[in-house]
Amino acid sequence: MRNSIERVLIDQKSIQEKVKELAAEISRDYRGKKLVIVGVLKGAVVFLGDLVKNIDVPLILDFIAVSSYGNTTETSGVVRILKDLDNSIEGMDVLIVEDIIDSGLTLCYLMENLKSRGANSIKICTLLDKPYRRKADVKVDYKGFEIEDEFVVGYGLDFAERFRNLPEICVLKPEEYNNSKNCVC
Ligand code: IMP
Ligand code: MG
Repeated sequence: MRNSIERVLIDQKSIQEKVKELAAEISRDYRGKKLVIVGVLKGAVVFLGDLVKNIDVPLILDFIAVSSYGNTTETSGVVRILKDLDNSIEGMDVLIVEDIIDSGLTLCYLMENLKSRGANSIKICTLLDKPYRRKADVKVDYKGFEIEDEFVVGYGLDFAERFRNLPEICVLKPEEYNNSKNCVC
């Protein structure tokens, strides 16, 4: 697996420090609110797991799965719900937790979709942001790191379902995604 990696972009210590900062901000902002954390499957699960352990206000966890990518590193622009929330979010304070915002199309769609369900508030928390590639205007309320326009994997992020278990955020060797015959998604 390590042979496919060009370099480590964000190490474990920096990730954990940032997660604690974000969790402290979220805990402060959501005290006394009805917090529902909506994790976007599957990329956000590793980040979400660390994040919620550091949030010290009551919360409900729910998950949604959407598809925006096929087997390439470019967004298709087409977003589809593969798994919906288990519970109603009516009257709740929803915090969507994402791994990375790239074009913004996925989150733009999700925001509109969740807004129509009568939530009291909806905010966005993302570990990574690639602002230069934005196609849809999304307001990010809690952001870990801004990164350059490079394809990254690890800490939950995948390429063709691989590399999610790397503990750091890494840049993949370009030949890995140029040669996409290994794709399983
Ligand atoms: P968007 O709709 O273009 O903002 O795409 C967001 C989704 O694309 C993220 O939730 C990721 O699943 C995926 N994605 C975007 N950039 C990367 C990347 O660099 N590595 C892995 N997945 C990515
Ligand atoms: Mg994702």
